[in-house]
Amino acid sequence: MEAIMPFGFVGFGLRLVILTWMLPDKTCAGDLITDPVEPVLPESSLLKPKVLIAFLARNAEHSLPYFLGCIDRLDYPKDRIAVWAAADHSMDNTTAMLQEWIRGVTGQYHSVHWTSAEEPSSYADESGPKHWPDSRFSHVMKLKQAALQAARALWADYILFVDADNMLTNRRVLTEMMAENLTVAAPMLESRVLYSNFWCGMTPQGYYRRTPEYIPIRNWKRQGCFAVPMVHSTFLVDLRRSATRALAFHPPHQDYSFPLDDIMVFAFSARQADVQMYICNREHYGYLPLPLKQQQSQEEEVESFSHTLTEVPVKTSHIDYLMMPSKYMHHRPKPLEKIGFEEIFLINLKRRFDRRDRMLSTLAVLGIDFTLTEAVDGKALNTSRLLAMGIDMLPGYKDPYSGRVLTRGEIGCFLSHYKIWKQVAELGLRRVLVLEDDVRFEPRFRSRLMTLLENVDRVRLDWDLIYIGRKRLQVKQPEPWVEGVSNLVHPDYSYWTLGYALSLQGAKKLLGAQPLGKMLPVDEYLPVMFNKHPKEEYMAQFERRDLLAFSVEPLLLFPTHYTGEPGYFSDTETSTIWDDEATATDWDRENDQRRGKPDGQGRPTPSGSAAEGVPPLSSASKHREEL
Ligand SMILES: *[C@@H]1O[C@H](CO)[C@@H](O)[C@H](O)[C@H]1NC(C)=O
Ligand SMILES: *[C@@H]1O[C@H](CO)[C@@H](O)[C@H](O)[C@H]1NC(C)=O
Ligand SMILES: *[C@@H]1O[C@H](CO)[C@@H](O)[C@H](O)[C@H]1NC(C)=O
Repeated sequence: MEAIMPFGFVGFGLRLVILTWMLPDKTCAGDLITDPVEPVLPESSLLKPKVLIAFLARNAEHSLPYFLGCIDRLDYPKDRIAVWAAADHSMDNTTAMLQEWIRGVTGQYHSVHWTSAEEPSSYADESGPKHWPDSRFSHVMKLKQAALQAARALWADYILFVDADNMLTNRRVLTEMMAENLTVAAPMLESRVLYSNFWCGMTPQGYYRRTPEYIPIRNWKRQGCFAVPMVHSTFLVDLRRSATRALAFHPPHQDYSFPLDDIMVFAFSARQADVQMYICNREHYGYLPLPLKQQQSQEEEVESFSHTLTEVPVKTSHIDYLMMPSKYMHHRPKPLEKIGFEEIFLINLKRRFDRRDRMLSTLAVLGIDFTLTEAVDGKALNTSRLLAMGIDMLPGYKDPYSGRVLTRGEIGCFLSHYKIWKQVAELGLRRVLVLEDDVRFEPRFRSRLMTLLENVDRVRLDWDLIYIGRKRLQVKQPEPWVEGVSNLVHPDYSYWTLGYALSLQGAKKLLGAQPLGKMLPVDEYLPVMFNKHPKEEYMAQFERRDLLAFSVEPLLLFPTHYTGEPGYFSDTETSTIWDDEATATDWDRENDQRRGKPDGQGRPTPSGSAAEGVPPLSSASKHREEL
């Protein structure tokens, strides 16, 4: 402190001089002496860098509201953002929707530039909306070049290219990418599989090449910013860097000899200009849908995007605004249907409102109508209550993994399903779907399930129960296919009751065996009833075990979390009840195998369906569509 003092005095003297010089004439120096220096005003903060956000929208009616919702919510001053948008060659309502959004937001942004053309609605030489003929590549390259030029003309510091179906759910993505201080930086985006917006390797022909570096980055095993030969879809360019003057989408660099493709042309120009591309994954930044193959249809794209939407809250594990469409745009929600069932029951424990909210938004995205059924809360049960209800445990029941007896949660779970079976029987519902609230849906869930039901009806299959999601426990032998119905097997011993279709006849059988007086977990009860439980002594307690059970294959539902994964919390497995109702014994589920993964894998891999839901990694391919 002492040592600093003299300098302090020097500063004081200097300030005095400056102040005297700045003061208006009428103030006399005497005032300054009796009333010493005012604190010097601090410097104000810097304005944020100027950024232009550029996107092209084509046949994007399904994704625009959600895409723009993310743009709306970016945590960045709007008056430092210029928007550059283009919409053309659309068969749907993209242009009108974009126009509506622009009307709503124009005053907020520094500027909004957009070009649109209603006609033509497709390229003359394209075979479908997912086909990329040269004319389309060339048009897209010209538009992206125009966006780049617009950013330069505005003297924008940065340009963010983003595809109109990429969802930037991390509101700080712009600030975070700028902080990396790189010329070209892409926030790593996620998809259901390993697909993302970067390549780690490239063939001599400029195509994607599979490399060992890819997966550790994509899985966040390595975190940071990594030099890669290609980023695409969403990336930020720092236009203050001199080398970016040479970056271009169109015309291609004079030495460019590869096929016309906007991302390849741009990456080539970066290489020629000695600009390194980086992929950054310090945080989770957002999501992108899988690219479709060129013969796929617009409907498939819409369904694929819906699935991406349903995955977002699973992975962020909390839903707040993430799924919300932009408020500056009229959004028609999907009509809700019961997809061939008389009723769809969603079992939810009242206090698990987080799960309920997630399921409500997911089912809304999927267009599935349902009835919310309040689960029986195991925590509210006690021994005297159970006795009054005539509930008793199956003699000799022990959990095969932990050796413990039934938990409160398991009893609550059983009673929740039982309640629904009773309702089905009382109302005479011919066919219902029962869903638990911690499920995640496979892509095209809705159409695949509907097709299955149609096939089941077509062959007049006599069925009681069809698993839609389960954990297969017997994996040595393949399960026999059901003749005449594709994607249906005869299930062996299985766990879980994530989701199943139930017929009236099935509900009657499950009730008829009077399971309350000899209760075991509901997912053990089902295999007993279709005579596939490995424990003869359990089966012996139930006389008729003629439930006609089937299972979809590959499965269409999986749990949102697995034991041991972050966010895993099971309601069925908390405390035991039978010994002493005064003592709540909470079980540590971490190492419990029952709900977990006996095969040591993160996901159950039913035979023959390893590719479904298990991320495949694209190998080298001839077409960008197949990446
Ligand atoms: C197209 O979008 C505009 C703007 O959102 C909306 O007003 C209009 O009803 C939509 N038309 C159709 C056919 O969906
Ligand atoms: C960003 O990088 C430039 C050189 O590439 C360097 O001069 C500058 O100090 C860096 N800025 C920050 C904040 O790291
Ligand atoms: C058991 O639960 C019932 C109803 O929930 C309650 O009325 C009763 O007091 C409870 N008994 C004990 C011993 O806690």
